[in-house]
Amino acid sequence: MKELVLVLDFGGQYKELIARGVRSQSVYSEIHPGSLSAREIKEMNPIGIILTGGPNSVYLPESPKCDPEIFKLGIPVLGICYGMQLMCYILGGEVQPGKKGEFGRVKATLKTSSPLFSGLQEQNTLLMSHRDQVTVLPDGFIGIAKTKDCPYAACENPSNKLYGVQFHPETEHTDNGEKILENFLYTICGAKGDYRLDDYIDSQVREIRERVGSERVLLALSGGVDSSVCASLLSKAIPGQLTCIFVDHGFMRENEGDEIEKAFSSQQLNFIRVNAQARFLEKLKGITDPEEKRKRIGEEFVRVFEEEAGKMGNIPFLAQGTIYPDIIESGGKLGDVIKSHHNVGGLPENLAFAEVIEPLSGLFKDEVRVLGKKLGLPSWLTERQPFPGPGLAVRVMGEVTEEKLAVLRRADAIMCEEIEKLKERPQQYFAVYTGAHSVGVKGDHRTYDGIIALRAVNTRDFMTCDYTPLSHKVLSRIASRITNEISGVSRVVYDITSKPPATVEWE
Ligand code: XMP
Repeated sequence: MKELVLVLDFGGQYKELIARGVRSQSVYSEIHPGSLSAREIKEMNPIGIILTGGPNSVYLPESPKCDPEIFKLGIPVLGICYGMQLMCYILGGEVQPGKKGEFGRVKATLKTSSPLFSGLQEQNTLLMSHRDQVTVLPDGFIGIAKTKDCPYAACENPSNKLYGVQFHPETEHTDNGEKILENFLYTICGAKGDYRLDDYIDSQVREIRERVGSERVLLALSGGVDSSVCASLLSKAIPGQLTCIFVDHGFMRENEGDEIEKAFSSQQLNFIRVNAQARFLEKLKGITDPEEKRKRIGEEFVRVFEEEAGKMGNIPFLAQGTIYPDIIESGGKLGDVIKSHHNVGGLPENLAFAEVIEPLSGLFKDEVRVLGKKLGLPSWLTERQPFPGPGLAVRVMGEVTEEKLAVLRRADAIMCEEIEKLKERPQQYFAVYTGAHSVGVKGDHRTYDGIIALRAVNTRDFMTCDYTPLSHKVLSRIASRITNEISGVSRVVYDITSKPPATVEWE
């Protein structure tokens, strides 16, 4: 049987990062509610348990708790942030609000004789994000890391294989976070590492065949990585039963609609392009609220599919390239809703399809790219930078019009042309129509034209990201081309905000 690490969810935003961090070290992981009983856990036979962070305070009666018996199962446990506080609190330690909390990258001193920190230097920078902290450790525990404001930044009870970290080893903002997870998995849990993406393909192919039988499936093909890989996986599972519909909502980048049509119409798929530009614009008339825009686009998408499906007779299955991060960011039971991703939050309840198939919903972006390659997709498709489902509609601030879209398309194309000349490209780069105007001067004339913002980010997972420090030379070239080549733009600014606190997209 495959090794399993259980990630017990207490509402932390990084729970999928934890699960992904584990999988990227070749150990299969699953996320389950924090309320899972010790008996249920024992039946699942995991080699390790990770308790996630969460927004609550453990000492409040309504905060989520875990079954205290899980600490007696003999299965190694790693509590992260709230998870560490919960473990210590349940086992008799004390948790209190810290004097000022710690938010961001913090220097820490580690006790490197602990197996959790084996191979690390004593000084290590960590991502902290907490106000509460453990002030008294339970019996049998010792502190193995401290920061200026947190005496127990990590703790262990090695004889019972219980470990806690107040920081977040799962994010790229913690130096050597991967090594810490690796130590937990391989040294403490004794993992062998038997998880392979090929297993995912095999199990999905089996599952899709079982669910679909001889019925037909309709796939929303956007030409992005996710839906392209989804198409490929589905055609492997049920060749001949798949119809791919590409809805051109009019919010695509320059020439993108035609390129997608060209790429997919030559493949072994039943490909249909629906030119729905006018009806999407009509739906967004007068709408300025970002969530409302996303919701309307999502709804219209589904309507178009329903109509197309109706023309083709009874197609009971709708497939979507939804991936794991789409689901978390749309808000789990315990997490807060950050943004409605069109392919999750926007789905209306009266969906006319009998069933929705989301074969990639267990995977992270980088896993989807690897899967695409394994399925034989060309790298220009699998390595594409991400593009949001609602497209340029969420990069035009406020009301979307054809005129604004035209300006943004050109500005975005200029930015892409210039970035694509570089040896190293950011993971995502695009232009934003800010909707703001500013005074300028062109020739001898005073102008009052639009402001375009440029955004470029480096990230491992899109859950957090840093803005890319593009060189001034590149930025000036883009700015000068945009202001010279596009009438109606007087100024170009560069977004230097990271995520958090900003998101990648502006809306
Ligand atoms: P945010 O703006 O949430 O973006 O920091 C994280 C990543 O997700 C992409 N994104 C979307 N993808 N549908 C999608 O399929 C959406 O509605 C959507 N909104 C954002 C974004 O481009 C970035 O890569």
